Amino acid sequence: MGFSWESYYDDGDWERGAYVGGDDMATHLEAFLDRVGDVDAVASIGCGPATAEFDVAARRPDVSFACYDAAPAVVDANREKARADDVENVAFDVATLPDTGVDREFDVVYCMAVLYFVRDAEAALRELWRLTAPGGALAFTYPNRNMQSWAQGLGDDDHDKREAFALVAAGENLLSYDRIRDVLGASPRNYWTAVDADPDADYVQRSGSPAVYVRKQA
Ligand SMILES: C[S@@+](CC[C@H](N)C(=O)[O-])C[C@H]1O[C@@H](n2cnc3c(N)ncnc32)[C@H](O)[C@@H]1O
Repeated sequence: MGFSWESYYDDGDWERGAYVGGDDMATHLEAFLDRVGDVDAVASIGCGPATAEFDVAARRPDVSFACYDAAPAVVDANREKARADDVENVAFDVATLPDTGVDREFDVVYCMAVLYFVRDAEAALRELWRLTAPGGALAFTYPNRNMQSWAQGLGDDDHDKREAFALVAAGENLLSYDRIRDVLGASPRNYWTAVDADPDADYVQRSGSPAVYVRKQA
């Protein structure tokens, strides 16, 4: 059987943390909100433990965060944490790319380390763009050819990872700067540069899953 995020969270053996960029991601997300400007509402799609989102929500009580994930177990755990920590500006719901069913727009749509697991990454991209309000911005990481090489190199020791990244290894959901521009009709830009990330950080140096953002015309 293939890898299942629901089983992963159900097992309960997971820790809170951002998948790409770790503890730095909250600082980066806050810098991104400042860069976009006038941000009232943020959506995080495939939020997982929503570590950066919780952190920035606590620092920015004036901004509302709507966080979605395909796995009900992590959504439940996040709701529990929000209740326990008395955080009022973060909400959690189940939603699955490429058809989230979410019926509103957001100033910032944030989708980190998720498209690797979606078979139709282009449809997912169009959905994320639909959720992005005019004048807003979409930030995401995506799987490219370098990530495919990495995924193809995963050995038996990395059995779970190999299953999780099977679509990438098979080249079924790869994207590129050019493809993103063609699908969205707007050019992606480097997210790490926009948020002034350390150029020597391992996640910035990594060429396999670039982090980009796209501004939507007002
Ligand atoms: C590697 S984790 C990343 C979590 C978080 N965004 C981060 O950066 O730490 C991938 C998350 O995407 C979720 N996911 C996988 N496929 C999805 C889909 N089709 N739609 C929405 N979420 C999905 C998983 O349940 C998991 O929580």
